[in-house]
Amino acid sequence: MYNEKVLDHFQNPRNVGEMENPSGVGEVGNMKCGDIMKIFIKVEDNIIKDIKFLTFGCGAAIASSSVLTEMVKGKTLEEAMAVTNDDVAEELGGLPPAKLHCSNLAADALHKAIEDYQGRT
Ligand code: FES
Repeated sequence: MYNEKVLDHFQNPRNVGEMENPSGVGEVGNMKCGDIMKIFIKVEDNIIKDIKFLTFGCGAAIASSSVLTEMVKGKTLEEAMAVTNDDVAEELGGLPPAKLHCSNLAADALHKAIEDYQGRT
């Protein structure tokens, strides 16, 4: 059902875990399944220096969060804000149609983390 890249990110998730003293935190829940995703970012000079995630969700959600962290690490906040849910699914090489909603959590949580950071500064 999943391609190799999705399986790789699911089985070896990158940047997973909690972050101490993050610059911003974003959390979203998926209405369809009740799963939750949390993204922590560390921002310096408008750049995402570090990013971590915690996901209570399915394999597609874990793979989406993992690939998203790789996509935006080192990017400016504007570049990260421009990443869409479709970009995440595309970066994963596609997801089964029934699992597309799972990838929506990743970019949404990231955008919330950026908004949280902007609200703090
Ligand atoms: Fe809940 Fe995928 S089934 S995020």
